[in-house]
Amino acid sequence: MGEQIGGNTKGLKAAQLSALTRTFRRRVPAEQLVTIELCRHLCAISIEIGRQVGVLINRQGVIEQTFVGLPERIYLPEIGRHRGGRGKFRGLRHLHTVIGDAALASEDLADLTKLRLDGVLVVGASSNGTPGKMLLGCIEANAGAPSTAKKIGHKVFEYQSPSHADFDFASFIRERERDFGRALGTQTGSGDKNRAVLVGVYPDRKTSVWRLAEMQELAGTAGVSLVDTVVQIRRRDDHRFVVGSGKLEEVVLRALDTDAELLVFDANLSPAQARGVAAFTDLKVIDRTQLILDIFAQHASSHDGKLQVELAQLRYNLPRLTDMDAGLSRLTGGIGGRGPGETKLEINRRRARERISKLEREIERLSKRRGLRRQARQSSGMPIVSIVGYTNAGKSTLLNALTHSHVDVADQLFATLDPTTRRLRFPRDAEAIITDTVGFIRDLPSELLKAFRATMEELEGADLLLHIVDVSDPMREAKIETVRELLRDLFLAEIPELLVYNKCDLLERVEWAALCRRDDAFAVSATSRDGLPELIQEIYRRLPFRRAGELPDNTEVQGVAV
Ligand code: GTP
Repeated sequence: MGEQIGGNTKGLKAAQLSALTRTFRRRVPAEQLVTIELCRHLCAISIEIGRQVGVLINRQGVIEQTFVGLPERIYLPEIGRHRGGRGKFRGLRHLHTVIGDAALASEDLADLTKLRLDGVLVVGASSNGTPGKMLLGCIEANAGAPSTAKKIGHKVFEYQSPSHADFDFASFIRERERDFGRALGTQTGSGDKNRAVLVGVYPDRKTSVWRLAEMQELAGTAGVSLVDTVVQIRRRDDHRFVVGSGKLEEVVLRALDTDAELLVFDANLSPAQARGVAAFTDLKVIDRTQLILDIFAQHASSHDGKLQVELAQLRYNLPRLTDMDAGLSRLTGGIGGRGPGETKLEINRRRARERISKLEREIERLSKRRGLRRQARQSSGMPIVSIVGYTNAGKSTLLNALTHSHVDVADQLFATLDPTTRRLRFPRDAEAIITDTVGFIRDLPSELLKAFRATMEELEGADLLLHIVDVSDPMREAKIETVRELLRDLFLAEIPELLVYNKCDLLERVEWAALCRRDDAFAVSATSRDGLPELIQEIYRRLPFRRAGELPDNTEVQGVAV
């Protein structure tokens, strides 16, 4: 930073500025809170210039910054993005003067907790330039408090003058910090990595309920532990901060109270919003798409899948990267800077662009190879069935049930990323190829979906789409619409669709039967296998087999990996 004077220095004379610069020489002994000399010096300047004056002192007693405020208030300068680490204070105390009687302003206390300062010290400057009463505000942690909100508070100590604050500050702060760490450590799940506060803006409460539930699931799948949720009901996002600035302030405080290091927005942040939020807080910020991409990054297992995820992440993050601001790299690295490829995602624009072109070429090459394989499959005359559907509808389970194979099934979103292809064998030697694809999800930008070409290309050649729906899901209809909309975006809406209502075991028969009649859907339960023979009949009937015909009831099919 250098020995520069920050804040409102307008109109100050050279002598006054040089007196301020001399402040940097007034080192405080490491075990002391403050020295009377430093306070005298600051009070004298303060009275002379008629403004508040402040300094930031580190644990070694070194003055890191000196800054000038207005007559009745002072703003703390940007103090960098480094946090003291989990359960630690910042290692900096803020000392400033006020003209007249010392009093802690609400901004002082907000800075104290928001920035986890070691302390805020306010010393009153009397009209003759000498220091008067001094107040010290410190973070006070109470590990035994029943609720998170009550665990972290503050305490104010009052001293007749700075010379009365005569105690071992070094051990004082160490003890307080220990209590603070303990208080945070006693919160449920505090040992979790990736502790996050979820932030959502919704038009009404009803929408907030199911959207939050979906975000909970996404976060769980991504390995993020949501320790708090902040919701704002408003019609439109704030163009700078998504939520209003007052609300964002609350979000940041809640993150500090709960020791969260991540803010997850249930929105796709515009690059401007991403920058706005990043400038507001030093917490890591990710949005909905980044969360989803992070899940993809964790689940990609094939070389092809990994390349696609990396490409999607880079494309999404590129407009959010600037060459100037290294701090913004917090916006780009996924949750833990997790990218599946060889590149760390915290890179600059130029390197990102180079990497994007390289990945595009590589994916193109692989795509040609896949094209040849697909052609071979198509020319084998075997019809292709592709399973599509909203994430967690039970696609992989159904594929397993249909083909007796063992594809990963997890009660997590997006367990499937790489397309799985199996052979579905009907009696009379009829065979079809059946593939499972990535789950579709609301609000995933369609250009991103296009990045998952390997998966999507499998759909292009399909003769029939099995659209799997979780019939027990209250949001069933909205999800069906999402999938259809994405299929239209990907120019796949022309492929015949067979709507399959899965998880019938979770509803009463009358209920699912009525829904199936109304929506012209097939009822099955992939787990209990109910309805599977009829579904297979129907698939067979709708596929362009050369020797079309009815299959006998209770058809058994076998699956073989291809
Ligand atoms: P993505 O990979 O996220 O797209 O999910 P998916 O659609 O492939 O879902 P998956 O097969 O992984 O199943 C999701 C969850 O639903 C798992 O916990 C399954 O056990 C459960 N499930 C699947 N089918 C049924 C069913 O018929 N009945 C019930 N009760 N649960 C089911």
